[in-house]
Amino acid sequence: MTGPATAAHVISAEVGGTHFTVHIGDGRLEHLGPLWAERAAGDQALVVFDANTASHAEAAAASLRDAGLRTHMAEVPPGERSKSLTELERLCREAARAGIRRADAVVAVGGGVVGDLAGFLAASYQRGVRLVHVPTTLLAMVDSSIGGKTGVDLPEGKNYVGAIWQPQLVVMDTATLGTLPARELSCGFAEVVKYGLLDSIELFERVEAWPAPLPGPGGPLLDLIRDCVRHKVEVVTQDERETGLRASLNLGHTVGHGIEAAAGYERYHHGEAISLGLLAALRIAGHARKLDPSWRDRTRAVLERHGLPTRLDPEVRTPDILAAMGRDKKADATALNMVLLDEPGVVLLRQDPPHDLVVAAIEELRA
Ligand SMILES: NC(=O)c1ccc[n+]([C@@H]2O[C@H](COP(=O)([O-])OP(=O)(O)OC[C@H]3O[C@@H](n4cnc5c(N)ncnc54)[C@H](O)[C@@H]3O)[C@@H](O)[C@H]2O)c1
Ligand SMILES: [Zn+2]
Repeated sequence: MTGPATAAHVISAEVGGTHFTVHIGDGRLEHLGPLWAERAAGDQALVVFDANTASHAEAAAASLRDAGLRTHMAEVPPGERSKSLTELERLCREAARAGIRRADAVVAVGGGVVGDLAGFLAASYQRGVRLVHVPTTLLAMVDSSIGGKTGVDLPEGKNYVGAIWQPQLVVMDTATLGTLPARELSCGFAEVVKYGLLDSIELFERVEAWPAPLPGPGGPLLDLIRDCVRHKVEVVTQDERETGLRASLNLGHTVGHGIEAAAGYERYHHGEAISLGLLAALRIAGHARKLDPSWRDRTRAVLERHGLPTRLDPEVRTPDILAAMGRDKKADATALNMVLLDEPGVVLLRQDPPHDLVVAAIEELRA
C-alpha cells in the first residue's frame, strides 16, 4: 500500500455493519464516479457543497456524470450556521424535488460543516440514503469524514441533533487542499498532532518532523493523512458509539471546548482552541500521571511552528473556561472525564484530575 510517493492509499473498514473504503490520493476526485459506480447503487446523486468548495463539487459531479449518474447540485452557505434544522429541511426538500431515492447517494463535498449536515441529511431523508464523503479540509480528512457522526446544531448547543450514519465511500483528494486558507490547514493540523500523541511515539515524531508551511510535499502528506485515518478507523471500528475507547479522540478537547466556548466561538477556531487544550492536557498529565514534560515542550514547538496558538488570550477568563467545561456535554455532571497520556500512544480514559491542577494548567497557558 505504500508504493511510490504519490500513489493512492486505500483503507478498507467495517464500522457498525457498514463496509466502506477510504481512498486517499492526489487527484483522486476524478476517480469518484468509477469508484461509486463499482458499488452498483442508484443512478442519481445529490452533491452538497458550499461556495468555497464549488469547484471541487463541480469536479466531483463531472466524474459522477461520466460514470452515468444524474447529478443534482445543492449549495449551502459556508460556515457553522449552515449546521441547522432549517438548512436540513431545505436540503430534504431539494432531495425530494430532485427525486432522490434510497439507493441514490448524497455526496458531501466540503469541510466538516458540509459533511455533518449532508451526513445527517443522508441519515434521515427517507430513513436513510447512501452517503459519500469527499472531505476538502484537512480536519474533515483526518477527523469528521471518518466515524459516522453527523448532525446539526441548536441554539442551545453544538451537535445536539444528529445520528451515527456511516458513509459507503470516502474519497480524499489532497489536491483540494490547495485552495484551503492557511489558517484552516493549521486548524486541521492540530488534530493531526492529537493523532500523533494518541497513536505512538513513532507517529508523533513523524508529525513533529513535518515541515511548515502546510500542506508540504505530496507523498509524505498522503502517508500522514493515511496514518491519522487508520488510527481513527481502528478506534471507531472497536467503539462506534463512544461507550469507551472512542472517547480517547477527545484528547485536548475538554479544556479546548471550554476555551472555544468562553471565547465566544469567534476568537479561536476549533483547531486553535484544541492546540491550547492539548497543551493543558499534557501539563495535567505531567502532574497527575507520569508524562515526561519534554513531550509538552515538543508538542508546543510543533504547534507553534504551524501557526497554532500556544498562549491564551488574556481576555478569555479562567472562570468562564471552567464554567464552559462544566457545560460541555462530553463531561458528565460530576467528573471532568478527561483523556490523559503517560506517553504518546499510552492513553488513559475517564481521568478526573484535581480541580487546582486544571486551573493551574489553564493559567500556565498565559505564561
Ligand atoms: N463528525 C465528526 O466526527 C466531526 C469531527 C470534528 C469536527 N466536526 C465538525 O466539523 C466542523 C468543522 O469542520 P471544518 O474545520 O472542516 O470547517 P468548515 O467545513 O467550516 O470549513 C472551513 C472553511 O473552509 C472552507 N473550505 C472547505 N474546503 C475548502 C477548500 N478545499 N478550499 C477552500 N475553502 C474550503 C469552508 O467553506 C469554510 O469556510 C464543525 O462543525 C465540527 O463540529 C465533526
Ligand atoms: Zn476536534
